[in-house]
Amino acid sequence: MTFQELQPKVTQITLHTSLSRDEKLLNICQLLSESIPYYNWVGFYFANHDSKTLHLGPYVGAETDHIVIPFGKGICGQVAESNTNFVVPDVSAQDNYIACSFTVKSEIVVPLFVDGKNIGQIDIDSHVVNPFTAKDERFLEFVCAEIANLY
Ligand code: SME
Repeated sequence: MTFQELQPKVTQITLHTSLSRDEKLLNICQLLSESIPYYNWVGFYFANHDSKTLHLGPYVGAETDHIVIPFGKGICGQVAESNTNFVVPDVSAQDNYIACSFTVKSEIVVPLFVDGKNIGQIDIDSHVVNPFTAKDERFLEFVCAEIANLY
């Protein structure tokens, strides 16, 4: 499925009246991981700005030990501080990286802004080296903007 075809489906999920916010997030994870072959782990982390930690939210894919990630640590922790997208074509080339599984070869993290504040992020792991393009970034920015309407 193309990103263009996926966009209205994402919006549809956010507008669903009978689902909780976490159920909507989980449905979006499911939609993305089922529709895009190289999205092998799709999940959300949310920031606690007092303790400067990220906390795992809804996700689909392999179970992860990384439930809490300090700001600055790993790709996710760096995005909590940089407020910008982080595309990692090859995780083996990264020093500040938290490995979840040896099957993960690349990663993309896009921050989620609500009223200009970075409240969390969508995190995607891939089993393929270098699969992400600017189109993934634009699509995931769209997904985050739609989710921001839920806050
Ligand atoms: N690899 C991430 C950790 C989270 S997992 O991908 C689920 C990182 O380096 O921040």
